[in-house]
Amino acid sequence: MSKLFSPITIRGEEIPNRVFVAPMCQYSSETEDGRASSWHPLHYGTRAVGGAGLVMLEAASVRPDGRITPWDLGIWDQSHVAALGPVVDAIASNGSVPAIQLAHAGRKASHDKPWEGGQYLDEGNGGWEIVGPSAIAYSEDWGVPRELTVEDIGEMVEDWANAARLSVDAGMKVIELHMAHGYLGCEFLSPLSNQRTDQYGGSLENRARFALEATRAVRNAIPDSMPLFVRVSATEYMENGWDVDECVEFSRWLKDEGVDLIDCSSGGNSEGQKLTPYPGYQVQFSARIRSEAEVTTGAVGLITEAAQAEKILEDGDADVVLLARELLRNPYWPIQAQTELDGQGVWPSQYKRVAEIRQYTTPPR
Ligand SMILES: Cc1cc2nc3c(=O)[nH]c(=O)nc-3n(C[C@H](O)[C@H](O)[C@H](O)COP(=O)(O)O)c2cc1C
Repeated sequence: MSKLFSPITIRGEEIPNRVFVAPMCQYSSETEDGRASSWHPLHYGTRAVGGAGLVMLEAASVRPDGRITPWDLGIWDQSHVAALGPVVDAIASNGSVPAIQLAHAGRKASHDKPWEGGQYLDEGNGGWEIVGPSAIAYSEDWGVPRELTVEDIGEMVEDWANAARLSVDAGMKVIELHMAHGYLGCEFLSPLSNQRTDQYGGSLENRARFALEATRAVRNAIPDSMPLFVRVSATEYMENGWDVDECVEFSRWLKDEGVDLIDCSSGGNSEGQKLTPYPGYQVQFSARIRSEAEVTTGAVGLITEAAQAEKILEDGDADVVLLARELLRNPYWPIQAQTELDGQGVWPSQYKRVAEIRQYTTPPR
């Protein structure tokens, strides 16, 4: 049996294989209140039917001002729990593990949908006041965030814990915290976006304080048996910016806080980042974090071939792989990859006839 299709147990959760759906914003909440719509069970359920071992829901904001767009998923009250019920069912009843990514977009919040141009929305145009570690805008065309006070940060930490409790109520089996891609946690980690002079800025310990406090609050809010993942940007590809050495140290601290898996992404915190992606370009970060912080890791980014995914695991560069765009193109990628590697991809009963030869030898029934 391939490594890719061998199960993995993380804390109390057995996950049937190591192909995970990476979190992907759908900007499809029906109303502007962060509640899941009819799109979500359809979209996520299809990926479970396609054979992924774990289906991670998109970045769900822990409070209204943390949404990237007004149509983002949110998780700050019981109405979100009720709306997520059909999504959890669609994933779990099709043999996959339902997971959710919790997030706050920080200074990158308050934008239009990407397919409407994605422009910054100010308060007069359907947007809201944005917040961050320092009053530094991501880009000239984007808003300048209000610098969070120490009291605000304390409340924010509680918001993450509240969202985690609601995720448990909704039936999620795994939680991931989004500390990557230039969103709030990542903004605090970077010396370029965080220029505070209090206990939340300056040294690595201080820049990591917010992310670690939020992680600790979440770990304390969820059952001991529940796996907790953190997505990191391993580097921001900028001179004098957050880098892999700092991320390795941060990953050790996360592990000490009871984090079970580091999901290794990169970039997104600076307009000026210098990056030319190539197949598997982020696997190197997973390999370093896995060996140097001695923690379970996930590799993500331009992983599109079964043999490529298998080799990442065989080489010990990651414990699981997360696929994003390839699983939008082809939700059945896991079944096809299993057929390629193990000769026995399992289609759902309703689809068994796809394995028949294409030409009917007897009239179809
Ligand atoms: C439509 C779309 C939405 C995304 N939304 C999120 C998100 O909510 N959270 C996150 O951490 N990454 C998000 N990403 C990044 C993906 O999870 C993934 O890291 C990235 O696309 C690279 O993987 P890929 O080459 O397999 O697509 C998104 C990517 C896409 C294409």
